[in-house]
Amino acid sequence: MEIKPDRKAWLQAGGSRCNTPPNTPPLASRLVLLGAPGVGKGTQAELLAQRLGACHLSTGDIFRAAKTQQTCALSPALSAALDYMKRGELVADETVLAMVAERVSCLKCEGGFLLDGFPRTVAQAEALEGLLKSQDIALDAVVSYELPLEKVIARLGGRRTCPKCKAVFHIETRPPKVPGVCDNCGSNLYQREDDRPESIRVRMQAYEKSTAPLTEFYAKRNLVLPILAEGSPEDIFARTLPALRLRSSGFAKSR
Ligand code: AP5
Repeated sequence: MEIKPDRKAWLQAGGSRCNTPPNTPPLASRLVLLGAPGVGKGTQAELLAQRLGACHLSTGDIFRAAKTQQTCALSPALSAALDYMKRGELVADETVLAMVAERVSCLKCEGGFLLDGFPRTVAQAEALEGLLKSQDIALDAVVSYELPLEKVIARLGGRRTCPKCKAVFHIETRPPKVPGVCDNCGSNLYQREDDRPESIRVRMQAYEKSTAPLTEFYAKRNLVLPILAEGSPEDIFARTLPALRLRSSGFAKSR
């Protein structure tokens, strides 16, 4: 059974520390993963985390972790955020930004980071830029996963997620060894509330309107690495790694 980082500092904040020490790779990777909901960002983040040692930081995972807390422990902003999420709408920028600011130590982590689901609007990208600058940190690249929308929607319908270690499966393309049971930690898998057809529709609209413009935002900063998200997760991973290596070798020369 694989031991995964518990990401406590990211999922819980409020002074929580990770139980697993960060990996300290020779060159920490600081990446943003972009792409439509369901394109496979989380799946690639898991593969990249294993290879690069960087921590998978998903804002969606923070909300889902908060949902498992007692309702009375949720702030009004967080309760509202969970309602937005259920409907497939984006959570307000100020709620998301407050949440990320509270977790700035994760951005400074010496193991590096893989941001998944954040930033999601131009306002969030601008805020992230300011936050990283204030900590003297620079992004290495923004990996943009690209796939026609109808294929993305098929991926969402079959997704099953582990409530405990957050591992992601697909009933057809990435089935767990035992149906309904997580390969990593043995918990029962579940289907996300926002993977219902009516929420999927709203999420895709929110993506087109608010998140797709981020490709241009980061292209202007010469950070975008477009990756075709066709094929198996391993195929996509095999396309991502050389693109990152090429970029970091160019980077090393220019430093
Ligand atoms: P979030 O959790 O970030 O969800 P998302 O962006 O909608 O992305 P997903 O997790 O749905 O998809 P993914 O690309 O990670 O795909 P996955 O790897 O799972 O956000 C959820 C909600 O939280 C938002 O709607 C919003 O309300 C709120 N929120 C979060 N962050 C926010 C922010 N910054 N601002 C405002 N609101 C925010 O793969 C999908 C399925 O496909 C899986 O079953 C997988 O096994 C399968 N699969 C993966 N790769 C392949 C492949 N190559 N071939 C076949 N199947 C594959």
